[in-house]
Amino acid sequence: MTLSGKTIILGVTGSIAAYKAAELASRLVQREANVNTIMTEAAMRFISPLTFRSLTGRPVVTGMFDLNSEFSIEHVSLAEAADIVVIAPATANIIAKLASGLADDILCSTVLATKSSVLIAPAMNVNMYENRITQNNLSELKSRGFIVVGPDTGRLASGEAGPGRFAGISDITGSICQVLGRKGDLAHKHIVITAGGTQESIDPVRYISNRSSGKMGYALAEAARDRGAEVTLITAPSSLIKPYGVELYSINTAQEMYQAVRDIAPRAGALIMAAAVADYRPASVAKDKIKKANSSLTLNLVNTPDILDNVKGDFVRVGFAAESEHLVENARAKLQRKNLDLIIANDITAEGSGFGADNNEVVIIGRGDAKNKLPLLPKREVADKILDEVAALLP
Ligand SMILES: Cc1cc2nc3c(=O)[nH]c(=O)nc-3n(C[C@H](O)[C@H](O)[C@H](O)COP(=O)(O)O)c2cc1C
Repeated sequence: MTLSGKTIILGVTGSIAAYKAAELASRLVQREANVNTIMTEAAMRFISPLTFRSLTGRPVVTGMFDLNSEFSIEHVSLAEAADIVVIAPATANIIAKLASGLADDILCSTVLATKSSVLIAPAMNVNMYENRITQNNLSELKSRGFIVVGPDTGRLASGEAGPGRFAGISDITGSICQVLGRKGDLAHKHIVITAGGTQESIDPVRYISNRSSGKMGYALAEAARDRGAEVTLITAPSSLIKPYGVELYSINTAQEMYQAVRDIAPRAGALIMAAAVADYRPASVAKDKIKKANSSLTLNLVNTPDILDNVKGDFVRVGFAAESEHLVENARAKLQRKNLDLIIANDITAEGSGFGADNNEVVIIGRGDAKNKLPLLPKREVADKILDEVAALLP
């Protein structure tokens, strides 16, 4: 999601993870956000304001009584201009101060003065994190509407393992996008999206699959989330990072995908089938690894269940048609055969488009004569165009 026109306050506090905030600042700037950094005294022991000044191209606020600052009455003017305040990393200390409503530094004062959402990403030693006082402070902040991302569990700077690791940057950016998109045109809508290529086992180590990477389905899931939807992503194995704030169901086979869609889609407003579901699976799965004994091997394949044909319910149905010839005619026939509301046709022979690529060139076909041919676009932009049409069909 582009963050163009959004103003984000990035609060950096005195955690060993403070250096990771530089990467976060850079990612937010790449998405075109205006990033105003506020650093605590302790944060400046870990990383220089110059880093954030250089990455964001904007002054860094380091003190309440900084006469050289361009912001008039800083703690108020910064707070008023913010679309969201993000404190990452957030120390046990700042969490305690915020929970008690302290205003003894510029970061706390800004949080107290803002009416925008506040997101915190705690990072600390496992014992500090698990301490009842910190847990109570976090509960207090959550009950007051603060959004808490992480911490992750894993190896900590102290050498111990447990919860306390700074959350992944993609989780923090995902959460920011979700918060900023909360009131979008898909707010209060539940969208189910399928993604990836199913895997049909031959024996314990081999399977039949296809070239789907899951990128189109994952882009749809993130785009729907960033427009306020509640998103369920039913995914075949994929190397992509799980989109933050999305309910994820991992499946392997077409049969498992069918069962998941059958259980979940009837409760949703729309089902978007971006997955490449196997049409055939081996009739039986060998119990042991098949040995290289003969000069040839014949596999007996049988049909898998057709998901769109079999899942009943009153929701908007969107299918994909990957075609190598007669794109629009074949896709339109599939739309009618499966009683879809929309079908997204893509020509898999087109250069730089389709399976595995970052871009896609599609035609969005509706019932009747409706047809929208899009140029080659990043999958995220294609996703938003598809969702524009889905939003128009939702009650
Ligand atoms: C090397 C070092 C690493 C630290 N890492 C953390 C940390 O990851 N999380 C944390 O809550 N405090 C950490 N602290 C303690 C904080 O820096 C300290 O509580 C400080 O007062 C926090 O101030 P601030 O919240 O105003 O930034 C660390 C201290 C040192 C010396």
